[in-house]
Amino acid sequence: VRRIPVLQIGFGGVGRALVEQVLHFNERLGGQYGFRFAYTGLADSQGAIVADERIPPAVLLQALATKQAGGSLVDVPEGGPLNDWRNLLTPSPCLLIDTTAQSGVEDALVAAVEQGHRLVLANKKPLAASYDTFRVLTTGARTRYEATVGAGLPVISTLRSLLDTGDSIQRIEGCFSGTLGFLTHQLEQGVLFSDAVRDARQRGWTEPDPRDDLSGVDVARKALILARTSGFQFELSDVTVESLYPPTLVDLSVAQFMDQLPVLDDHYRTHYVSAADQAQTLRYVAHVTATNLNVGLATVAIDSPVGSLRGPDNLVVYHTERYAHCPLSVRGPGAGTEVTASGVLSDMIAFAREWLSR
Ligand SMILES: NC(=O)c1ccc[n+]([C@@H]2O[C@H](COP(=O)([O-])OP(=O)(O)OC[C@H]3O[C@@H](n4cnc5c(N)ncnc54)[C@H](OP(=O)(O)O)[C@@H]3O)[C@@H](O)[C@H]2O)c1
Repeated sequence: VRRIPVLQIGFGGVGRALVEQVLHFNERLGGQYGFRFAYTGLADSQGAIVADERIPPAVLLQALATKQAGGSLVDVPEGGPLNDWRNLLTPSPCLLIDTTAQSGVEDALVAAVEQGHRLVLANKKPLAASYDTFRVLTTGARTRYEATVGAGLPVISTLRSLLDTGDSIQRIEGCFSGTLGFLTHQLEQGVLFSDAVRDARQRGWTEPDPRDDLSGVDVARKALILARTSGFQFELSDVTVESLYPPTLVDLSVAQFMDQLPVLDDHYRTHYVSAADQAQTLRYVAHVTATNLNVGLATVAIDSPVGSLRGPDNLVVYHTERYAHCPLSVRGPGAGTEVTASGVLSDMIAFAREWLSR
């Protein structure tokens, strides 16, 4: 059984769920495909565990327990401080998994794929950097990124197979944010905007600073990734983005922002009630074409595909040359650590099978 070396940076919600899934499925992968994943490095923002051959499963379990208890990988006996994850790359090709949310590491990721490593991203930011970076990372299919849009849903693989078989994309639209899906659905249930944001934050469904979700930029990054995958050359600055909070709340601390949120309640209540009067509702919708990218709050018919979404569900609709009359849709839960980790694992398995077939 061949060992596939893995270096994973990021050991938060998604990173931990991924390690658990690898531990759970590794045995089966050996029997089914003839390979097993072998962690040679695992890093969080403070520390790392490294091994020449593989980090033993017992140490991975200990790392999970330490992290769950609020510690860092520095606190695991086999761990040490992390200076720079680049030093953890093995000389021979490995799978480099980025389950962080860091930006500014694009050059290091590019260098890694150019050295022959293969990259799997849950982190959207590297793919939303310059178009050139996107092109270099994805040339020759050396980066896979299913989990960046729609978490575990087959959003990117569906798009890839449409493109690979000669279809051309006319328009992609839908709701790409589990968090904003939850918020708009809560408005429909009569919940105040401020209470809905607070609830989503307490459930861990928003970023620590909810403005990162409410600004729409996260959805803009996803729209950009779909556009670039379709062959449309946009920059993030080309996306028209509607923020769900006004500029007056930009410079506040997170605590001040949370305190000020009720000032938006009347606005969203009135907006929702006037939509409901026309059998419509509110959804945060993205539109992607070859010439235009925009994301924002839209009034949609309550019985439309987008209007009928519930909670954190996502919907991605592909209008293509082949699917012109009846568009192709992917729909389902678009957030959550388990499903996101399964999207990453499926990319890892695809790379490993490719390596094995060489
Ligand atoms: N959660 C979802 O439903 C979902 C869905 C789709 C995509 N994603 C994407 O998946 C990624 C991870 O999400 P998450 O929810 O797991 O986030 P998270 O819980 O905040 O985890 C981020 C992890 O990255 C680590 N980290 C930060 N800087 C680092 C560095 N320089 N080197 C090594 N590790 C570093 C953090 O370390 P510490 O633990 O020390 O802070 C943490 O372990 C994000 O990019 C997110 O947008 C998430």
